[in-house]
Amino acid sequence: MKKFYIETFGCQMNAHDSEKVVGTLASRGYEQVESVEAADLVLYNTCSIRDKAEQKVFHRLQEFKKLAKHKTFAVIGCVAQQEGDKIFERAPHVSLVAGSASYTKLPELLVQLENGGKRVTGLSLDTTDTFETPYTRRDNPHRAYITIIEGCDKSCAYCVVPFTRGPERSRTSESVIAEGRQLADAGYSEIQLLGQNVNSYRDPSTVQWDFAMLLRKMGEIPGMRRIRFTTSHPRDFVKPIIDTIAENPVLCNHVHLPVQSGSSSVLSAMQRQYTRDEYMRRIEWMKNSGRDIAITTDIIVGFPGETEADFEQTLQLLDEVEYDSIFSFKYSRRPNTPALSLEDQISEEEKSRRLAIVQERQRSIQIRRNAEYVGRVEEVMVEGFNKATGQWIGRTSQHKTLNFTDSRENLTGQYLHARVLRAGPNSLAGESVTIQ
Ligand code: 5AD
Ligand code: SF4
Repeated sequence: MKKFYIETFGCQMNAHDSEKVVGTLASRGYEQVESVEAADLVLYNTCSIRDKAEQKVFHRLQEFKKLAKHKTFAVIGCVAQQEGDKIFERAPHVSLVAGSASYTKLPELLVQLENGGKRVTGLSLDTTDTFETPYTRRDNPHRAYITIIEGCDKSCAYCVVPFTRGPERSRTSESVIAEGRQLADAGYSEIQLLGQNVNSYRDPSTVQWDFAMLLRKMGEIPGMRRIRFTTSHPRDFVKPIIDTIAENPVLCNHVHLPVQSGSSSVLSAMQRQYTRDEYMRRIEWMKNSGRDIAITTDIIVGFPGETEADFEQTLQLLDEVEYDSIFSFKYSRRPNTPALSLEDQISEEEKSRRLAIVQERQRSIQIRRNAEYVGRVEEVMVEGFNKATGQWIGRTSQHKTLNFTDSRENLTGQYLHARVLRAGPNSLAGESVTIQ
């Protein structure tokens, strides 16, 4: 029995790719183990969204270099695609380098490795394939990911994804719906639809559903309690998506809509294809939808040329939208990207200063917003039990964490109601209640 260890960095797409890679390896007789030491084959599924993420894999490879004689190392995912066979120079103990667009070829690549291949690569981006496999090994028994679209056709000036994941390819709606039904039959009650830009989903088969239609049909699958999706692009986030969510409570009260900056001139330099006003219109749709939709976002500070006035507009946008939570980052220069050559790079020190200000501002918004939940009763899906606090961990439709007390056992995976008694910046706490 060949043993493998896999470590995954980066986004949910990567996490789900790993589930499929694990399934593929298992179907070929490999057994998963929990440490590098116990493995024959070590895989790193990598992320290159920012320089820090990219460095992690090279640290790992360095760390385990002395074990190289007895093991095979593989670098897959975004750093693999970006750095290609340069990885063999930098880390000669690596034998396989493959990007996500080549995972359909994984069985052949494994055969090459098994036959003693030392520099096996899967690096072509010239594909119309999406990675579909019957062998997915899912990590969570209640919530499942489904990739509906791979790659990205946008060209945001800071972003590596079009280079690491290639052009957009949508799966047929037939295969997505079939996977949804199978998951419902297998007892999954929550599905998260994944793609670098799910809003530009377009069914390649003759029915040609768009994203709103796919969402509507997913929401009608019997047995499915919650459908989420990530991530969205404001340019492709059209009103029918909100209208669809408003009609069906199975479609969760949460939209992650990355804005990146509150300044239209920075948005233009970022090649985001929308203005601040156009973004705000989408926020209005959500706020006027009749559903209490939680809105979250991504912010980049210190993009080249971002002035103090631009930055101030981002802070004002946070106040205006009142996001439920944000992910915020310092701009990181990435290989191949259009912004690499821009003048007027901002110093690390200034980026750190702006990041701290954004995070502080958002923290006070979250304290205020979450406090409004005290006294409310929310439906939660139980994710697990925290022994240290003696509380169950619940997740609301809005994707907020609601920790609650309940003396019963084995609640994981169930849907219960809990009353919010306390609120902090990042979570709510309370007790379960019985609803007649
Ligand atoms: N530097 C900093 N943040 C970035 N992101 C993407 N590329 C970069 C970069 N070069 C952020 C964006 C995106 C999120 C996934 O990561 O905010 O929405
Ligand atoms: Fe990282 Fe982006 Fe690749 Fe996801 S798609 S792993 S966030 S670089």
